[in-house]
Amino acid sequence: MNAIRIAPSILAWDLGDLERAVEISVEGKADQVHLDVIDGHFAPNITFGPGTVKAPRRRCDLKFDTHLMIDSPEVYVDKFLEAGSDLLTFHAEVLDGARFDELHRKVSSKGKEVGLALKPRTELPPWATERLDKISTIVVMTVNPGFSGQTMDMTVMPKLAKVSDLLKERGLRTDIEVDGGVEPENVSEVVARGGNVLVAGAGVYAKKDPVGAISSLRTIAETARRERR
Ligand code: DX5
Ligand code: ZN
Repeated sequence: MNAIRIAPSILAWDLGDLERAVEISVEGKADQVHLDVIDGHFAPNITFGPGTVKAPRRRCDLKFDTHLMIDSPEVYVDKFLEAGSDLLTFHAEVLDGARFDELHRKVSSKGKEVGLALKPRTELPPWATERLDKISTIVVMTVNPGFSGQTMDMTVMPKLAKVSDLLKERGLRTDIEVDGGVEPENVSEVVARGGNVLVAGAGVYAKKDPVGAISSLRTIAETARRERR
């Protein structure tokens, strides 16, 4: 079983102070930093581009998990690779098999990982089930893309379990990342359904003690994992 990983989402912090955001992730011993890139087309918000990723990158060695909520990932993929992203996640809704293959070729040629994200109502498309071996992380979104601080949509849980069963059937050790509204109250359910990478924006950065919130989420997730066995 893949290890539990905590991925604080800096979207919930002051975007003008990303260096402090990553420092908090380092102090809390997070496993990766989740960076939400939104272009105002794919989802109704505008966040930041590759230039903005460079400064926090200099401040930490954690895995940079870049979630591209943009219509044209092929235009920006090279820039985010240069900026220091380690995992580049693309949305299934804007791709097909051929476009995915091209992105995968670029990312893997730099030794980096490819993720595939699904909006709450999107199922894994057939072209993706044929290419699971090329995907290191499936990101199951539990809110509509755009903003931090939304409530988790629990109706996504059956899809999460379905993705987890499919990966098990295929004998793959793909990470399953759950993104949107992760809070101490729902972490056990998410882990029980097969999620192992927990993105938490408000669940970390809106807490009084964000550093402590990272280890609390980990403790709850690891306890749920032991009970699941
Ligand atoms: C939503 C983003 C999420 C979001 C998570 O568009 O993809 O990563 O920042 O934040 P919370 O955990 O507050 O829902
Ligand atoms: Zn995200």
